[in-house]
Amino acid sequence: MSEIFQQLDSFAENFVTFMALLFTLGVAIGIAALIWIYISDISQTRQTIRRNYPIIGRFRYFFEHLGEFFRQYFFALDREELPFNRAQRTWVYRAAKNIDATVAFGSTNPLNVPGDFLFLNSLFPPLPEEIIDNYPVTFGETFSLQPYSTDSFFNISGMSYGALSGPAIQAMSLGAANSGIWLNTGEGGISPYHEKGTCDLVFQMGTAKYGLRNKEGKLCEEKLLGLRNKGSIKMVEIKISQGAKPGKGGILPGIKVDEVIASSRGIAIGEDSISPGRHPEIENVEGLLNFINYVRDVAGKPTGIKCVIGQSEWLDDMCHQILKKGLEYAPDFITVDSGDGGSGAAPMSLIDHMGLPIKRSLPLVVDKLTEFNLRSRIKVIASGKLINPADVATALCLGADSVNSARGFMFALGCIQALQCNKNTCPTGITTQDPNLQDGLDPFDKSARVGNYAQNLTKAVKMIAHACGVKHPRLLRRTHAQMITEKGIPETLSKIYPDKTPLDSTQITGI
Ligand SMILES: Cc1cc2nc3c(=O)[nH]c(=O)nc-3n(C[C@H](O)[C@H](O)[C@H](O)COP(=O)(O)O)c2cc1C
Repeated sequence: MSEIFQQLDSFAENFVTFMALLFTLGVAIGIAALIWIYISDISQTRQTIRRNYPIIGRFRYFFEHLGEFFRQYFFALDREELPFNRAQRTWVYRAAKNIDATVAFGSTNPLNVPGDFLFLNSLFPPLPEEIIDNYPVTFGETFSLQPYSTDSFFNISGMSYGALSGPAIQAMSLGAANSGIWLNTGEGGISPYHEKGTCDLVFQMGTAKYGLRNKEGKLCEEKLLGLRNKGSIKMVEIKISQGAKPGKGGILPGIKVDEVIASSRGIAIGEDSISPGRHPEIENVEGLLNFINYVRDVAGKPTGIKCVIGQSEWLDDMCHQILKKGLEYAPDFITVDSGDGGSGAAPMSLIDHMGLPIKRSLPLVVDKLTEFNLRSRIKVIASGKLINPADVATALCLGADSVNSARGFMFALGCIQALQCNKNTCPTGITTQDPNLQDGLDPFDKSARVGNYAQNLTKAVKMIAHACGVKHPRLLRRTHAQMITEKGIPETLSKIYPDKTPLDSTQITGI
């Protein structure tokens, strides 16, 4: 009997030892697996979140996947998130990754919300041989020393180095070069990252004249003249205002101002970088036209302005004065930014409530230029939440020559709309100067996404234009689209915004 107990005892001992070994082995395998996952996460370059948050970052993709199933029961629907809903963002993510952008079963876009657009298909879309592949637009054709022609109608809007990280700008520069689009520098001047890809650059002159200022913070003519010899700079955009914060200049906290930012801007390291709310040298419309003409003469590049439209009487004044002073005084382009445009940092009362949205301001500007017969002289660029093909096609229907996007390209870089651009904590390394977070953003991998996004969007807009029966997107007109009205039914754009005919000289006073 005692022998049986002894055997049972030794069996129990062995069993416990075996289980302890098994447990230790399990823990060791678990730790080894975690180390392996950790190393593979930080060494891969495709997903910034996994690189910046090894192991736990994987849950994002897991939950994102589960979200597809849970969303219909618990969470927001595809079209409920702001400022960009999931459907809009998903289109960009897929286009940037160059993966299938088709959808199944049916549209989730109810098309009954006032302000929504839809396009009018033609019975006879053009045959392949009738399609126009290249439809360039030329800026500063007659009055600029170095006019600029480009086929591209979808380009990268101004975002300064400082608001964006170096790797983010580098990825945009490389991607822009590969896809033949331009990159606007934003108001922070040119950094070494802008020039990595040798893409076409639009130099933005903000109110603080970063990159072009002297020690007193005023515009330095010698530096402006220096732009002439910079082949990569194709145009100069004088920033008058930005949709997210009309009346306020750029805001970059000192914590973000490192050595490279300081030298690109011409300011001290660690100093808060606050641009004035207005160009001190521009007091009125005549001053604006004189300044544009001066900048164009010195820099030798097509020169335009960027503004958000609010009170709009100045447009009449500007057109009158251009006709009076001479066409050379006109801006070569106007970038019309929407009141709901984005920003690295902006006061809520301005970002939420100031300035007209693009669907109102774009036709207003286009019509004013048409009335004064200045439409061919002054090109019009539109920006503001135009990140999907239908948005871009709508802007072209409303009369834009080109469209700029900022946040669309941020999504292409992997932005997850964490709404942290004003802190130094952007989890995707795009709007932070924290080297640890920047480390996750591989500029080479992400540059391909920038290029894919630009190319796939262009392709999709061409598809819309084709279905509307026109040979190139730049031939889209107001007759090709309708907008949902208050009654929930569509109305042709040409009825909502009737095309203007040029005024005759007796109607244009003051000349
Ligand atoms: C992070 C960030 C930085 C920006 N920096 C600038 C800037 O330096 N100058 C400027 O004119 N606009 C700036 N903008 C505004 C954009 O250029 C653009 O006009 C606006 O966001 C609307 O386009 P979107 O809806 O495609 O983003 C910035 C926007 C973002 C999101």
